[in-house]
Amino acid sequence: MCGIVGYIGKQKASAIILEGLKRLEYRGYDSAGVSTQHEGRFELAKKIGRVDGLIKGTPALKLPGTTGIGHTRWATHGGVTDANAHPHISSDQKFALIHNGVIENYSSIKKFLLTKGYTFQSETDTEVLCNLIAYHYQKEPVSAEASRFLEAVRKTLRHVEGTYGIAVMCADCPAEIVAARKGSPLILGVGDGELMLASDVSALISRTQNVVYLKDGEIVHMTGRNFTITTLEAEDVSPVIDKVTWSVADAELGSHAHFMEKEIFEQPVALENTMRGRFSEDGSTAQFGGLNISPVDFRQIDRINFLACGSAWHACLVAEQLIERFARVPVEVDYASEFRYRNIPLSRNTLFFVISQSGETIDTLAAMREAKRKGYKVLALCNVVGSTIAREADGGVYQHVGPEIGVASTKAFTSQLLIGAMLALYIGRMRDMSFSGGVAYVNALKGAPDLVRETLKLAPQLKDIAQRYAKYHDMLFLGRLALFPIALEGALKLKEISYIHAEGYPAAEMKHGPIALISEQCPSVFFVPSGEMFNKVVSSMQEIKARKGKIIAIVTAGCELPPDLADDVVRIPECHEAVQPIVATVPVQLLSYYIAVALGRDVDKPRNLAKSVTVE
Ligand code: G6P
Repeated sequence: MCGIVGYIGKQKASAIILEGLKRLEYRGYDSAGVSTQHEGRFELAKKIGRVDGLIKGTPALKLPGTTGIGHTRWATHGGVTDANAHPHISSDQKFALIHNGVIENYSSIKKFLLTKGYTFQSETDTEVLCNLIAYHYQKEPVSAEASRFLEAVRKTLRHVEGTYGIAVMCADCPAEIVAARKGSPLILGVGDGELMLASDVSALISRTQNVVYLKDGEIVHMTGRNFTITTLEAEDVSPVIDKVTWSVADAELGSHAHFMEKEIFEQPVALENTMRGRFSEDGSTAQFGGLNISPVDFRQIDRINFLACGSAWHACLVAEQLIERFARVPVEVDYASEFRYRNIPLSRNTLFFVISQSGETIDTLAAMREAKRKGYKVLALCNVVGSTIAREADGGVYQHVGPEIGVASTKAFTSQLLIGAMLALYIGRMRDMSFSGGVAYVNALKGAPDLVRETLKLAPQLKDIAQRYAKYHDMLFLGRLALFPIALEGALKLKEISYIHAEGYPAAEMKHGPIALISEQCPSVFFVPSGEMFNKVVSSMQEIKARKGKIIAIVTAGCELPPDLADDVVRIPECHEAVQPIVATVPVQLLSYYIAVALGRDVDKPRNLAKSVTVE
């Protein structure tokens, strides 16, 4: 949520910052802005709308100076206006600041600053923060030892309640940026004779792969090509420089029209990367390097509690089905945002698992901290290496699917499904699953990438279906057991990117309410797997057909539906139960994508959404 970029070096800062902002746009895209330092003053360009609009509609690209900061905004405090866009400049023109997060006590600080003569151009909490730095700066004694700029920021942050990732420039300090974080990600890029700052590595990787992941409560002071890291309490921190493995090509569109399309088609390789090296030598179970929990301790666990938001929450629901079925361990799944406030009774031997692609979702992070506060071990399943959740967890599993840029999760979601299935196997093999059962399961998982490759060949058929269904305003997605969460995911994908109202339900539950929606104007997408549920799902379809509802059926190849029951039949390959949710996801991703394209929607940056939600 909100993208931050900073640069100090020898190149023109504005061009580098704008390139970085484009890569970060998926974090927020209400407005964008850039400010550079030049001859003791700030140059500024900001505007509502996208980064491209900023480049075309303002002199942003021409701003002189080799030090600068830039921002893409996802509005929290204050509407989407040019004045509310970042960067903000203090009323004494001494400081320019960009901010990601929410300052909760901004209104009392603002009242105080107004009495001291500071003035405000915007409705944002960020401008309050900027002026508070100016206030502390003018009070700060000039000393040879300490940086007055750094100390003013440090003092300010001690008075602030809420969350922030900030980058600040001071007009008196050329080639310096002070940046700090609490609850919002911030990464320092250490380049060749230059330093960068960003809220996400994708904005840095075209210039450097050497990064320092800042921790909550840390402040980095960038001075030319040098930097120091200290804490809010002014303790020194020794920086650890990590190497990013993602390449520039990973974060670029290539020949695809949208990142969502690219990421859907990357799924076979993404799944291969997720499972690489994660099966035992005897081929009968999964193995994970970073769980940090011994098999003996794992066997003591009598309950698993999953916490997540959005698509990751749907992945938890599938993991619940598979773990209960194959490992016979009871599983609870909670929305991370609800878990924090529910205060549920927990058994002593509960293990927590959080799932988060970004590793930065604030609700998931807060829920994880709550579970840890209660003394529980929390494992995390994340894609972004070095993310806050990944770092704070007691152990976990990385997804290894490369950057996911489209706001609607696709390859990260199917990779989460795969890891959930692997966990069911891992825990199952510690309990009742036999060696031969394990071998069959492993072989099925190994076959998943090829089954997804085969399923992707359905793209032309789904494109054709999408053209015909794009005109509807409501749609139902219906599935049973482990395909019910995929129905939820299908509905979420459709509404996120096409703005068509959609709901996901267990197929049999449909008759307890949603059936009232059924008419010629409200089609349904049914998941119709082979096996014990086939006839039950067919009965639900009959109920819809009797009410003139149109049906798209996603059917396991080889299953014959009664004639004329479905208007469109999409045949997916037959597969193992643990792989079925992964394969069944692909057609609904493609359907949503092609419907959104047919409607001319901004697929990668749907309205009001952001990829990584770092405010509560
Ligand atoms: C946002 C995104 C969703 C995503 C959810 C959780 O709402 O728009 O696509 O599923 O956050 O994100 P996470 O990074 O924690 O998996």
